[in-house]
Amino acid sequence: MKRIIVTGSNGQIGVELVPYLREIYGAENVLATARRKVPGTVSEGGPFELLEVRDGKTFSELIGNFKADAVVHLAGILSARGEACPQESWDINAGGCFTALECAREHGTAFFFPSSIAAFGPSTPADNTPQDTIQRPTTIYGVAKVTGELLCDYYHLKFGLDTRGLRFPGLISYEAMPGGGTTDYAVHIYYEAASKGKYTSYIAPGTQMDMMYMPDALESVVQLMEADPSRLVHRNAYNISAMSFDPDQIAASIKKVIPSFEISYDVDPVRQGIAESWPNSLDCSAAKAEWGFAPKYDLDVMTVDMLERVKGKNRNS
Ligand code: SER
Repeated sequence: MKRIIVTGSNGQIGVELVPYLREIYGAENVLATARRKVPGTVSEGGPFELLEVRDGKTFSELIGNFKADAVVHLAGILSARGEACPQESWDINAGGCFTALECAREHGTAFFFPSSIAAFGPSTPADNTPQDTIQRPTTIYGVAKVTGELLCDYYHLKFGLDTRGLRFPGLISYEAMPGGGTTDYAVHIYYEAASKGKYTSYIAPGTQMDMMYMPDALESVVQLMEADPSRLVHRNAYNISAMSFDPDQIAASIKKVIPSFEISYDVDPVRQGIAESWPNSLDCSAAKAEWGFAPKYDLDVMTVDMLERVKGKNRNS
């Protein structure tokens, strides 16, 4: 990658990936795009353009004018919000991905697609979920993610496009809040632990999900995009995860830093149902073997860092 265009730059991943890419590739070589211009590093730390990802004409013009050689397509609606607006979710997530791939094909750019643990469903083996396995998701978000994975495979096979993708687990970060996801509780809990010393979880105890701290996710995107293509057997949608925990385990980790912290439960049936349909823990051996995936943060190391960062934010706000 030399000149990169990023969609969905104001989202939880985008607000950190854009500055990270600008640091590595040079600010002038990373064009951030989003539906809205929000003051801050994304729109002020380098080139920025407004883009609605279903507008293929503008999208293609931006790629051409910027002479981009890679599209990092992040724009999307998360799982729980998607269940409240399935049609719009399909349109943006699957339709947006198709439009983005078409634009990438026109200009012959590399393409990154963030898939998700949501690409699996209740019939998928839940423990040590294999790289290649049953994918029958039951959310519209998951259906669009499987579609995106298949489209990326298709564009590679049919048109030789250099498509690559990761199945992200729940991502935990402190720069921007995730919005409308199922794994979001694992972010909210740190904010409330730091500000109130307690948290009411909408996910039930015993519900295991894969997670990862944002610095590992950012590094994984660049590692995959820069990996030697001859080693990429799977290419699209590698399982990646750094840890798997349930609400009690993250609460126990927080208690090591804030002994008085307390967790209680008020389970949301929609998000609980989604969480139960997803794997407990992924097998990441393909990512390790094919491009050297090696996350650095485990639960306790992440907890110490998250609580520090979140406290700093509370102090400054
Ligand atoms: N974190 C996402 C969600 O919860 C999963 O990819 O929707």
